[in-house]
Amino acid sequence: MSSKPSEKRQVVRFAFYKLDSAWRRLSAERQASAKLEFGETIESFAGRLLLRPYGLVGIRGDCDFLLWQVAEDLDSVVALQTALNRTDLGAYLAVPYSYLAMTRRSIYEFPEAPGVGQPSRLVIRPSDARYLFVYPFIKTRGWYMLPKAERQVMMDEHVRIGRQYPSIRLNTTYSYGLDDQEFIVAFEGDSPADFLDLVMELRESKASSYTLRDTPTFTCVQMSLWDMLDTLGGAGSAQAVSRRPTRADGYTPVATLADLPAGTSRRVYVGGDAVALFNVNGTVHAVANRCTHARASLSEGTVDASRCAVTCPWHEGVFSLETGQVLGGPPSLPVATYRVKVEGDTVLVAPPGLIDAREPIAPRS
Ligand code: FES
Repeated sequence: MSSKPSEKRQVVRFAFYKLDSAWRRLSAERQASAKLEFGETIESFAGRLLLRPYGLVGIRGDCDFLLWQVAEDLDSVVALQTALNRTDLGAYLAVPYSYLAMTRRSIYEFPEAPGVGQPSRLVIRPSDARYLFVYPFIKTRGWYMLPKAERQVMMDEHVRIGRQYPSIRLNTTYSYGLDDQEFIVAFEGDSPADFLDLVMELRESKASSYTLRDTPTFTCVQMSLWDMLDTLGGAGSAQAVSRRPTRADGYTPVATLADLPAGTSRRVYVGGDAVALFNVNGTVHAVANRCTHARASLSEGTVDASRCAVTCPWHEGVFSLETGQVLGGPPSLPVATYRVKVEGDTVLVAPPGLIDAREPIAPRS
């Protein structure tokens, strides 16, 4: 046995869900409460599992979304699915594909990529890449009959090709004996075109002739939980989230710090309004998500930590994240700022902290 049995490994599940279209004919009232219940059930597992939602609506016909689940034990994965099955939306969801795997070290030696170092294969750390490309993988039995040194040579070629596409990041997890496939491969990247070129090139590698099965293939789009639920149709998540009870102090829990590491942003909903959250050097700021110029989504903008400002992704309007004032570009009106506080790991937001639109606009830089 080449692997250390004492290695701490993670349990990984890729669960693909398909919504019964009958759900879309329910009342808007029921759809909104079903989305809220489903979303809050997932959020309630935040401390127990790493959970990443991805949408497949418009990409595949046989599934609508993926929940990439990473846990320290199998029980957590079972508990999550049990809780989802008990929800109202869960009654309308099938799981057409479910792949179980674990992390472990590879039996092959991979030299470090220049400047990158050796990634840990025992702990899954998803990136912020826009896309995830997932498929189950089985090698032929002939592959296992080859001497290990011969397989290593073919894996070296495989790795060499992969490194020509540095924008694509591979997560390999192992399923031997746990599920029907041998591996699950999950590639993260921002460019489907790069991934297509990589896979075409890998087809010409020697190792490829030892592939028994590498389908079905899933192209998945990373999005927030509430955006993903909106791809299903029905009442909007904003309507659903506006039903969250507001606390007596006016604050609403909207995210955890684990969801919002330093340097990241995300869209949340407060009282039915979309709000952009930003973690700038450990301080969380919240502003209205819609740019006052032409309504682009500011949560997708670029943050300048030194100015504590966000640049709009469409026409480069710049807003202060501290005051909401316009610091540059075409917008003439400031964005609303929200009050933020953090309790333990929970980020809470309260309106308004609104900047009066009649205030003079700060000089543009
Ligand atoms: S939409 Fe933001 S600057 Fe135009």
